[in-house]
Amino acid sequence: LHIIHIAAEMAPVAKVGGLGDVVSGLSKALQKKGHLVEIVIPKYDCMQYDRVRDLRALDVVVESYFDGQLFKNKIWVGIVEGLPVYFIEPQHPAKFFWRGQFYGERDDFKRFSYFSRAALELLLQAGKKPDIIHCHDWQTAFVAPLYWDIYTAKGLNSARICFTCHNFEYQGTTHASELASCGLDVSQLNRPDRMQDHSSHERVNPVKGAVVFSNIVTTVSPTYAQEVRTAEGGRGLHKTLNAYSKKFIGVLNGIDTDAWDPSTDSFLKVQFNFDDLQGKKENKADLRKHLKLSSADPMQPLVGCITRLVPQKGVHLIRHAIYRTMELGGQFVLLGSSPVEHIQREFEGIAKHFENHPQIRLILKYDEALSHSIYAASDMFIIPSVFEPCGLTQMIAMRYGAVPIARKTGGLNDSVFDVDDDTIPLQFRNGFTFLTPDEQVLIIVC
Ligand code: ADP
Ligand code: GLC
Repeated sequence: LHIIHIAAEMAPVAKVGGLGDVVSGLSKALQKKGHLVEIVIPKYDCMQYDRVRDLRALDVVVESYFDGQLFKNKIWVGIVEGLPVYFIEPQHPAKFFWRGQFYGERDDFKRFSYFSRAALELLLQAGKKPDIIHCHDWQTAFVAPLYWDIYTAKGLNSARICFTCHNFEYQGTTHASELASCGLDVSQLNRPDRMQDHSSHERVNPVKGAVVFSNIVTTVSPTYAQEVRTAEGGRGLHKTLNAYSKKFIGVLNGIDTDAWDPSTDSFLKVQFNFDDLQGKKENKADLRKHLKLSSADPMQPLVGCITRLVPQKGVHLIRHAIYRTMELGGQFVLLGSSPVEHIQREFEGIAKHFENHPQIRLILKYDEALSHSIYAASDMFIIPSVFEPCGLTQMIAMRYGAVPIARKTGGLNDSVFDVDDDTIPLQFRNGFTFLTPDEQVLIIVC
């Protein structure tokens, strides 16, 4: 099959979280199975250009519609992790992807609706005839209504649309009038059975639009697919998801076992594998030295946590686990950062408090290399999420020989099985789990 992903992230060049990992990992897995896979992403100024091979601009310029005008887009091609990638660079005065960050701009709706339309225009003008167009999350959810509303009539009609929602917390809702910017028909789409948001008849919801207009809708674990069908978990979309339940399924993510492989990982001080864990000990010693943690007792357990610091991830439990680990005589290393100002400030306060502490270290930034070292050094790894569509860090931790401690929710429920859970065959039990997202329960588990 010819499969084209249209996405806002792809690891390692443009990664904020798990979406980037999955777009690359899934594409590589499909490519290995013999499918022709291509990826279209924006050309961000803040991308990791050193990880793109053979990057070059094409001679063709693709024109796409926005706000009543045609704008030129420069198209770049390159290879990332062995995958052919198209990068779209809009020649639009708003410099949509020259912002020094991937998301979090006031005009994100415009940036990504523009990109979705430009991506389809690229496929049309390049004469692509994919079997599947796979779009991800609200940023490229527009692809589904745009495809059926505009592009099938223009001749880009070979494909079936697959939409994957990696997190229903982010739906990208906005005022209905904004839909017109990328050429969508507001009066046709701002209807309760199409893109109208449940909160107001003046607001539209791109994720809802993708659920309605895609041929198949997936989310990233079977448990989460059940949770979002309920009023509590669906964030306003449960009715729509139930109405389209025949085409909605949960498929558990996996990780890219080449990118995350302790026996070849070039970020590690020493590579190791399950037959010889000596290297894991050396990575632990190295991380302790690097972070200036006490290395008096090689057997002292080290608990790791690598995460975006947002309420979803159970920040109150992470904070609690830091103090609890210290009380119990362990070491704790947190790598994370927060787009939420008060959370970032709170953790900066805790980091400062423990600045020279021998057992606790908080590193509040995004750091790919350090993340690999922490997975390799940790004995245990904590993922106390309030909700978690899938979660990849528990899977990476297991691959690096760290035992996950996870709350039983979403994809964590489908991938971490408690050592004492008699309902699970012994050989599948791989960690510690707890259900209630409060501090008391974490005390018992730890
Ligand atoms: P989410 O996508 O909700 O953030 P996932 O568990 O699916 O959560 O994926 C998180 C990914 O981002 C993992 O690859 C993890 O290692 C990485 N990551 C998260 N925070 C950081 C950070 N501060 N530095 C480096 N990598 C990080
Ligand atoms: C989202 C979810 C996370 C999931 C990732 C990849 O960011 O929060 O649970 O693992 O997408 O699908």
